[in-house]
Amino acid sequence: MKNIQPNLLEEYQLGDLKLKNRVVMASLTRGRATNPDLVPTSMMAEYYAQRASAGLILSEGTWVNSQSIGFINVPGIYTEKQIEGWKIITKAVHDKGGLIFLQLGHIGAGAHPDLQNGELPIAPSAINIQSQSFTPEGFKYTVTPREMTVTDIQKTIQDYRQAAQNGKNAGFDGIEIHAIAGMLIPQFLSIATNKRTDEYGGNIENRARIIFEILDAVKEVWDSTRIAIKFSPVMLSNVGIVQPDEETISIFQYILNKLNGYDLAYVHIVGPSEDLIGTPVEQLQESYFKHFRHHYSGRLMANLGFSKQTADTILKEGNADLVSFGEPFIANPDLVERFKHNLPLSESDRNTFYSGDENGYISYPKTVYLKS
Ligand SMILES: Cc1cc2nc3c(=O)[nH]c(=O)nc-3n(C[C@H](O)[C@H](O)[C@H](O)COP(=O)(O)O)c2cc1C
Repeated sequence: MKNIQPNLLEEYQLGDLKLKNRVVMASLTRGRATNPDLVPTSMMAEYYAQRASAGLILSEGTWVNSQSIGFINVPGIYTEKQIEGWKIITKAVHDKGGLIFLQLGHIGAGAHPDLQNGELPIAPSAINIQSQSFTPEGFKYTVTPREMTVTDIQKTIQDYRQAAQNGKNAGFDGIEIHAIAGMLIPQFLSIATNKRTDEYGGNIENRARIIFEILDAVKEVWDSTRIAIKFSPVMLSNVGIVQPDEETISIFQYILNKLNGYDLAYVHIVGPSEDLIGTPVEQLQESYFKHFRHHYSGRLMANLGFSKQTADTILKEGNADLVSFGEPFIANPDLVERFKHNLPLSESDRNTFYSGDENGYISYPKTVYLKS
């Protein structure tokens, strides 16, 4: 009898794209655009091509404009040179039979004057998110940003649209909007960091407005089935005061309900990395992905801490359509093959996550078991 249960390693039809499997490489900032223009490099092309057996690759978070920069050596997609650099990467991935979406990000209050020619970062409100920014002199505490005017907001939305267009010109297969904690979008969603009194602040609808305005803008460039968005509703660490609050559950219900009308490629959700008991979102502790599945009728991509076994389980339970893997792809460029052959995974070296050179980047070998 034919097995009709979804399987991590089987093909998957994502709109008009055929994925070789449901193993997605999640976005990984690796700090290898080590040049003043933040242009992707040929070393990055080799890195992504090494991982092209994933069903889909999501690029590292990539700046939509110079105001969005909050971390050194992270590439952008807002200049011609950057577009040319990305072309080499998308070609390298396509030549290996892979698919790659571009992740578009803006760090808002997570930036630092050292990365902004001495200017203050911009954010929904003039509130220090009490996080850290990776500057040329190492990690520094964030500062109190400048509150965005409505004109700033409109310009930023247009920058997302232009970045989406640039991504298309660079040969990407689609885009993912980077909206996990620490970035600009969650700073609009959070009660702690959004004190605006205009149409972008106050009630849930207003705080979530920017998401839909960005999606509407990028939809002018891409078919909706090539657009995705990544959220982390319950991230607790390393995100300063942008924490789950008493309206997190209801704002995400509102967002997902509204996204039901968008026919996106997928919504990508990062799971809980810590115990939620005692937090305002403790009711999500059990049945986390099932909760979001209940509110979202489109494709769902689950992330955080998955193994081959737990990924297969969530697919079979029907609580996700795709599963993404972040850290496992760092030391296992051949993650899919290792899953296929049930081979052990290598551990990544955290000291080289953002260290700028080849070591710990393109140096991880394929498993010896697979060498002929
Ligand atoms: C070194 C590193 C860099 C990351 N950079 C990004 C990023 O640029 N964009 C993003 O959405 N998530 C980023 N993440 C989060 C991962 O995409 C993923 O959500 C997280 O690692 C959990 O998945 P995992 O348990 O499979 O690693 C990063 C994670 C790591 C370890």
